[in-house]
Order: sequence, then C-alpha cells, then structure tokens
Amino acid sequence: MSQEYILAVGETDRQRLEILNRMYNPITQYFLTQNGLKQGMTVLEVGCGTGDMACWLANQIGKKGKVVAIDNSSAQIKLSSEKAKNKGINNIEFLCLDVRDLATLNQQFDFAYGRWVISFLPDQHSIFQNILSVLKSGGILSYETASNVGEGYFSYPATPVVAEWFKISEQFFKKNKFCLDLGNQLFHLYGKLGLSNIQIMANQPIMKTPEEKSVMRIGSTNAKDQLLKLMDEKNYQRYIQGLEAFEQSDAIAGFYRNILAAGVKV
Ligand SMILES: C[S@@+](CC[C@H](N)C(=O)[O-])C[C@H]1O[C@@H](n2cnc3c(N)ncnc32)[C@H](O)[C@@H]1O
Repeated sequence: MSQEYILAVGETDRQRLEILNRMYNPITQYFLTQNGLKQGMTVLEVGCGTGDMACWLANQIGKKGKVVAIDNSSAQIKLSSEKAKNKGINNIEFLCLDVRDLATLNQQFDFAYGRWVISFLPDQHSIFQNILSVLKSGGILSYETASNVGEGYFSYPATPVVAEWFKISEQFFKKNKFCLDLGNQLFHLYGKLGLSNIQIMANQPIMKTPEEKSVMRIGSTNAKDQLLKLMDEKNYQRYIQGLEAFEQSDAIAGFYRNILAAGVKV
C-alpha cells in the first residue's frame, strides 16, 4: 500500500467507513443517477474502500453492465470483494491497483466514480488525467471530496470538543499534505481537463444519532499514533472522553461538507 494514504485500512477502519457510507451515500447515489449513470454501463470506481458504493453501482447498471473497483490496499479489496460475494453480486471485478496505474487495465469505461481518494495524493490534476485516459469519449467522470476541511462546521448546542475535533483534523491533514480544498477546486479543475456539461452540488450531512457522531471518536482512536504527534497522552484521553460524551448528548453537528462534480469527456 502507498505510504501517502495516512488513514487506517481493512478491519481497523471498516466500521468508520461504513458509517460514513450510510451518511453520504443517499446524496451520492442521487447525484450519480441524475448525472448519467445507466443500465448496461461499464463503470470504474477508484479507491473503493469497503465496497459499499461498488455494490450499489453494480445493482444500478444491472447484469449487462460491469463495475471494475480498484483500491491499492489489499485489505480493502479483501473486505469489499467479500461484501459483494455475500450479497450475491457477481458483476464487479475488484483489483488491487494504484489509481496512477489505470493504464495497465487496458479497458475503456462509460463512467468513472471516486470519493475521498485523490486529496491524499500529490499532483491531483495528473491523477484526474489518468482517470480520463481510461474513459471513453462521451464518458462521464463523477468525483466527490471534502471542501475546505476545517471550515463551515457547527454543533448545536455548541460543543467545544466538536470544534476541537475539526481543528485537530485540519492540523492532521495539513501535516500530512492532504489537499484540503480539492472539493472547492473541482469545477475549475474539470474545466481545465476539458470536461463539458459540468454539474456540481454540495452535501453536508448533519450528525444526529450516536452512531453517526461516533465517527469522530472512532477516527481519532484509529489515528491515535498520529494524534500523539499533536498532543500528549493525557490530553488525548481527555479528548476521547469528550467525544464519547458528545456521542451520548443530544447535540447535533454538521460534518464534512463534500462537493460532488460530474462532467462529460468530449
Ligand atoms: C477514505 S477511503 C474512501 C473509500 C471509499 N471511496 C468511500 O467513499 O467509502 C480512501 C480509499 O482510497 C484508497 N487509496 C488510497 N490511495 C490510493 C491509491 N493511490 N490508489 C488507489 N486507492 C487508494 C485507500 O486504500 C482507501 O480505501
């Protein structure tokens, strides 16, 4: 696995990613169906993680279509292919592959989709070019990512540990050279890539259930080693206890605002 992806993979991060999928997928799925996803298509998913979207895409395109879902972590590919198998889905090919090595696929797709992958990697423009190189002329690219990580979030009633979580996340991402504003750039980036008919929208889920709110604590627990570079053990324990109390409280919080953008390859 590439050293550039700084978050945990496999079983360690499975629960957090699956909760995030439950929070974000309804709007993602609405956006994809509004922007050209159709029965019978060949679809590429980059950075498929736990495979939730790959399984949904496979059902949407039906038996005559095919999904190729790639991830450069063998642990993610194991989880996602087991998920598809358990659901009886057999029109997905899962491959352990880096998004920068798509040319080795020797395939052209009708539709390419991805979420929360490219911001972790350097030179985002050339990664999008890689994806476009395996898209047919007239094919659709739909990518989705956070916009201005560290801004625009809220909790009500105001809960200091939530504000702290966003501040620490921003520090953590900056330290690891994550592209914090890729979502904001997408519209212009697609223009520079020569895409036409660019469609764009935002989605900011509001965390209201203990499960939704738990993504903050689970993410912080999974990244403990990294967080201990930003705070000492005592402070870390206080922080985790604060996040647990938030989970059990009646406070709500706006989570990461995502930008979704789709465009057509001319
Ligand atoms: C935050 S997760 C998002 C997973 C999924 N897209 C979702 O929305 O739930 C990022 C995923 O990208 C994968 N990834 C990171 N760097 C990659 C690369 N260079 N090529 C392919 N996949 C990569 C990680 O292994 C991880 O599964």
